[in-house]
Amino acid sequence: MRYITFALAKGRLAKKALELFEKIGITCEEMKDPDSRKLIFVNEELGFKFFLAKATDVPTYVEYGAADIGIVGKDTILEEGRALYEVYDLGIGKCRMCVCGPKSAEELLKHHELIRVATKYPNIAKDYFYNKKHQTVEIIKLNGSIELAPIVGLSEVIVDIVETGATLRENGLEVLEEVCPLSARIVVNQVSMKMENERINKLLEDIRNLESAQ
Ligand code: PRP
Repeated sequence: MRYITFALAKGRLAKKALELFEKIGITCEEMKDPDSRKLIFVNEELGFKFFLAKATDVPTYVEYGAADIGIVGKDTILEEGRALYEVYDLGIGKCRMCVCGPKSAEELLKHHELIRVATKYPNIAKDYFYNKKHQTVEIIKLNGSIELAPIVGLSEVIVDIVETGATLRENGLEVLEEVCPLSARIVVNQVSMKMENERINKLLEDIRNLESAQ
């Protein structure tokens, strides 16, 4: 039997996804050892392999077929724009992609002013402002702590993930517009979907059944 390989986005998402897999009998004891430096884990019986990767790399592994299946956030899927099938919404890691800023920036958005937008997600921001809002903006790519940008005067607004809203509140910022809802998704390589149709569909069915039983 050929192995089916899973690429999981490192961090909270992977932990939650593994808990879910466990409930449908997909276990990987090896992966639980916090001291292990191993990068890839195997369940010989089931013919599954698992590896953890940086979230932004998961769609790349899946597009090229180095992983058959990926578990990754919708934010990364949208931003990376890779050729793959998004087959299932796991409903975990729910949050929103939003345009945020100080209340005073509301007017700038309303009047389609040429503003600066700082973000870790330039493709999502571009798509939103150019294709949906038809507003010309300057997009500034940052790599973290995006909320700093409007505070120190780098940009008027940001496009970023909002989960509880605590980071915004503590920094005097607010949600000004919602871009889209986000959550963890299962993505599948396009060739694997055909070649391993039976095993992949069985997996999806088990997850679906688990959800409807809850
Ligand atoms: C994310 C996001 C916000 C924060 C939102 O950042 O970019 O800063 O979480 O969460 P909240 O609404 O619950 O406050 P993350 O912690 O992933 O790190 P980053 O700043 O390096 O992007």
